[in-house]
Amino acid sequence: MTAEKKWVWDDRYDYLRDTRDLYYNEDYLEFLVRIVWKLDRPVDMIDFGCGYGYLGLKLLPLLPEGSTYTGIDRSGELLKRARDAFQGTSYRAEFVEADLEGEVELDRRYDLAVCHALLLHLPDPVRTLGRMAGCVREGGRVICFEPHWIGGMAGHQSGEGDASEVVPLGVLQKLYEDGRQRTGRDGNIGLKLPAYFSRLGLRSVECRVSDKVNFLDPRSGERERQELFHALKQEGVGTMPGERGDFVQGLLDRGLSLREAEAQYEAERLYAERFQVDSPLAYAPGMKITFGTVGPQRIEGSFLKF
Ligand SMILES: C[S@@+](CC[C@H](N)C(=O)[O-])C[C@H]1O[C@@H](n2cnc3c(N)ncnc32)[C@H](O)[C@@H]1O
Repeated sequence: MTAEKKWVWDDRYDYLRDTRDLYYNEDYLEFLVRIVWKLDRPVDMIDFGCGYGYLGLKLLPLLPEGSTYTGIDRSGELLKRARDAFQGTSYRAEFVEADLEGEVELDRRYDLAVCHALLLHLPDPVRTLGRMAGCVREGGRVICFEPHWIGGMAGHQSGEGDASEVVPLGVLQKLYEDGRQRTGRDGNIGLKLPAYFSRLGLRSVECRVSDKVNFLDPRSGERERQELFHALKQEGVGTMPGERGDFVQGLLDRGLSLREAEAQYEAERLYAERFQVDSPLAYAPGMKITFGTVGPQRIEGSFLKF
C-alpha cells in the first residue's frame, strides 16, 4: 500500500500565522464590516480554503453576536489548528475537510461566502467562485480577499533608491502571466475578480484595496523590528535566489531570454543583500477585496446538495 501523498498546505501553518498581519489594519476590517458592508445582524458565514481559520478569527469579533462560521479546507493539519484556535471561544464554528475541486456537498445556504488567498491557487478559480456564489441566500454576499501579484510587487520600496533595481516589474509581469497560461493558477486574480463577479451575475460589484503599508523602521525597537523582518522574510521579501545556474535555467524554462533571466538573478540577489533588519523598507501588499450581492437569479453550479 502506498502512503497517501501529503497535502502541500499541511506544513504551512507557520508561514500563514506569521504573514497574515501584513495585510490589513484592524480598523480597516472594522470599517469594511460596519461602514461598507453594514453587517448589523447575525450572519451565517462560510470561508472557503479557511486554513487555520484566519478570516473567521478576524471577522467574528466584528460581527453581531449569534453569527456562525463554517470553514472548509483540504488541509487536515490546518483544520486541527483552526479547531484549537476556536476552542475556548464563544463563537459557533464548524470545520469541514474537503477538496473544493471535487464533490463538496453543503446542506444549507449562507449569508456570506468568503475566501482569503484561495482562488489564486486553483486551476479553475471561476468554477469555484460560481459554486461559492451558488450557496449564498438571495441578498447575501460573496467576498473575496485575493492578491494582485504585480500590483503587490509595485508596493516594494527598499531604502531610498530606485525600486526598479531590485524589482523589475516588466519581467515579473511576463512570468506571472506565463504561469497562469501554463497552470490556470493566477496570482493576479485580485483585479480580475470584479469582471468574474459580473460575468457570474453578481450585483453591486465593488472592489477595495487593503490599507496596510508595513514600514521596517531602523529606528524602531529591536523586538518590533525583528518580528516584522521575520514576517517579511516569510512573505518572500528579499529572498536569496539560490544557486545561480539552477535559478537562471528555471527562468529560461518559463520563457525568459538568457539576458532577462540573468538580470532577474542579479536583481533578486541585490534585493536580498540590501534587505537587512536594520535597513528601511516599505511594503504595501495591496490585497484586493471584491464583493458582490447575490440576486434572485440562481447561479449555475453550486456546492449545495439540494
Ligand atoms: C494561502 S492559504 C490561505 C488560508 C487562509 N484562507 C488564510 O488566508 O490564512 C490557501 C488555503 O487554501 C486551501 N486550498 C487550496 N486548494 C484547495 C482545494 N482544492 N480544496 C480545499 N482547500 C484548498 C489550502 O489548504 C490552504 O489552507
